[in-house]
Amino acid sequence: MAQRNFFVGGNWKMNGNKESLEELISILNTASLHDQTEVVCGAPSIYLDFARCMLDLRIGVAAQNCYNVAKGAFTGEISPAMIKDCGAEWVILGHSERRHVFGESDELIGQKVAHALESDLSVIACIGEKLEEREAGTTEEVVYAQTQVISENVSDWAKVVLAYEPVWAIGTGKTASPEQAQEVHEKLRAWLRSNVSDDVADSVRIIYGGSVTAGNCRELASQNDVDGFLVGGASLKPEFIEIINARA
Ligand code: PGA
Repeated sequence: MAQRNFFVGGNWKMNGNKESLEELISILNTASLHDQTEVVCGAPSIYLDFARCMLDLRIGVAAQNCYNVAKGAFTGEISPAMIKDCGAEWVILGHSERRHVFGESDELIGQKVAHALESDLSVIACIGEKLEEREAGTTEEVVYAQTQVISENVSDWAKVVLAYEPVWAIGTGKTASPEQAQEVHEKLRAWLRSNVSDDVADSVRIIYGGSVTAGNCRELASQNDVDGFLVGGASLKPEFIEIINARA
């Protein structure tokens, strides 16, 4: 079976300024990080260049979104080519805030995934059900449909990390239990096995996001199909180091 290196992404969202980010970056740069864990920080687009210049090269940099073409008359948008030009290697796509605050459709997210991969960026592709969908028993249906659209647009699964982030757990302090996370991750891996290939099912990292903290990360990380985390609030704090080292 393929070895899946643990992957921890920090999603800074629309937080920080040069002063506070410099402080955070210096903590990350000097920390002892488990060397088998891949670490990526998602910076606001205006700070991508700054983050890439300041962060140690063992830590990757991600944009938090991008558009689906290389350039043109799209006021306010950024392209994968620009992200790469700033030296960043990753982009987060389909985050629940993009889907539910800014109304991005599955179709647009799929186009963004395709274009980012064609542009040689790696992608953290996010999926997850809302509370009412979980309560209605449609979690599987929702995450499979989201994964299907992503999958139709993936040209190289080696450059994709799938982030399962139940919307009800994001920024709410309500983490999915290790059993709830494992159950969905295991089903997603089975979906990949049936719909893509054994190789992709065995090798793709499926990471969990939603109120991950230093306090709950070890138990979540001990689940078989939890291959890492996407961390919002706690990625802005020194406890992010403990989350990175959850499997150490
Ligand atoms: P949170 O955010 O850790 O603050 O819940 C996670 C995310 O949005 O990726």
